[in-house]
Amino acid sequence: MTEAVQRLKEMVDSTDNIVFFGGAGVSTESGIPDFRSVDGLYNQKYRYPPETILSASFFERNPEEYYRFHHDKLRLRGAKPNAAHLKLAQWEREGKLKAVITQNIDGLHQAAGSKNVIELHGSLLRAYCARCRKPWNAEIINEGEGVPRCDCGGVIRPDIVLYEEALDQEAMEAAVRYIRNADVLIIGGTSLVVYPAAGLIRYYRGNRLVLVNKGETGADSYADLVLHEKIGEVFSQL
Ligand code: OAD
Repeated sequence: MTEAVQRLKEMVDSTDNIVFFGGAGVSTESGIPDFRSVDGLYNQKYRYPPETILSASFFERNPEEYYRFHHDKLRLRGAKPNAAHLKLAQWEREGKLKAVITQNIDGLHQAAGSKNVIELHGSLLRAYCARCRKPWNAEIINEGEGVPRCDCGGVIRPDIVLYEEALDQEAMEAAVRYIRNADVLIIGGTSLVVYPAAGLIRYYRGNRLVLVNKGETGADSYADLVLHEKIGEVFSQL
């Protein structure tokens, strides 16, 4: 075990008030690509940039193209939780962790057994009609082809936050509350470039801010401990 992992272990062992805030890098070891790494979703070629395809106005204008991208790139294809998801769920069961705050939409924290998961960007495991708001089982998207339609003729959409859309206010407020009161805040697998989620870090008031991220982030200099390593590999040692 490296010295940095040993320090993280000591922090984790010393508290029952850990909050975790994560992003796409938490799920890459489960086989789901992140967005901004060289082999991530945003470095592949489409007719439109992914940020455009994943925007509310594009979805409305061009659901066919949106769903071509979605079925190709946002399917979960049986992904399973990895050591990071499982360790976080274990800490919650042991009463050490208060909340997982995630930008991910893959449901893998819940699949690992975490209960208190704040999903800032929604979930691919829920769906609803964009016109009449009727909730639908997400299988209609995840196991179907083309553009899924509601009985009312509207387009069914995943319950995720698209670009141009606001984050759920209650989820944001809960995230701020947990981070403000956290003893140890572990941030993992996120480039911390997408706001408002990335701005949550400034609410932390403690002195044990840990970053576990493969690459550098703009927040490295604020952290008390930085590990540029794979999060699943680090967490499996804790
Ligand atoms: P990014 O793709 O921007 O960042 C993922 C980060 O995780 C990168 O800094 C990688 O270096 C790091 N990483 C990858 N694999 C890792 C591993 N095994 N262990 C540790 N670190 C690893 O993803 P997010 O920060 O989550 O929003 O992106 C934020 C938002 O941008 C997403 O929620 C999505 C996207 O647009 C919406 O869809 C609204």
